[in-house]
Amino acid sequence: MEKIFQVKHLFYKVDETTILKDINLEIQKGKYITVVGPSGSGKSTLMRILASMISPTSGEVMFDGKSIETYDPISYRQKVSYAFQQPTLFGKTVRENLEFPFEVRKETVDEAKIIDYLKMVNLDESYIDKSVNDVSGGEKQRIALLRNLLFPPEVLITDEVTAGLDAENKEIVHKMLNQFNQRGLTILRVTHDETEISAATDKITIRKGELIND
Ligand SMILES: Nc1ncnc2c1ncn2[C@@H]1O[C@H](COP(=O)(O)OP(=O)(O)O)[C@@H](O)[C@H]1O
Ligand SMILES: [Mg+2]
Repeated sequence: MEKIFQVKHLFYKVDETTILKDINLEIQKGKYITVVGPSGSGKSTLMRILASMISPTSGEVMFDGKSIETYDPISYRQKVSYAFQQPTLFGKTVRENLEFPFEVRKETVDEAKIIDYLKMVNLDESYIDKSVNDVSGGEKQRIALLRNLLFPPEVLITDEVTAGLDAENKEIVHKMLNQFNQRGLTILRVTHDETEISAATDKITIRKGELIND
């Protein structure tokens, strides 16, 4: 199997505090990896490094065989997409958020595609013209996830994205992510959700900034 990420001797320090310590990790293309560990153990920090939002203090991160520093930041963001724990919608309407992925790629907006995607997460087409102030937290989370997936990246990193969702909407998100994974998307999912953890087939654990093999 092909490796999509290779992390070698990665450290992340802030002042004198070591937040990540000698992380060595390989992730195979197409996997659905669940990342677990106590709060404050360094999960989000590692995910932000993989998404190239922050740089490690030392060590190496390779994506598709090349150091992530060698990629152009905009094209890297389209390959490795990070879905935040606390998503924010920008601008005034849901439409602006879902047209944005087309605009950055200089593509004609495909409204039918946007509607199909909304339906995938149980939102009907009336949501397109809603104000960002009139959608609930759970709806925001799903709309933000669509922004990540309208043009599927190679890797999707989800950081506790189902934490604020009810059981029904969790299930909708699980189904959608499973479908994308079956079509080849590599997924790294940070979660504290017991159901998600017990359903996980591939797991990595981070504790006090270190990768635990279990
Ligand atoms: N830029 C930063 N400055 C200082 N401390 C940080 C910074 N980023 C993360 N930390 C600390 O690093 C630790 C790990 O944080 P985080 O990666 O968010 O953990 P997790 O996602 O596992 O809850 C925490 O103690 C956090 O306070
Ligand atoms: Mg976190």
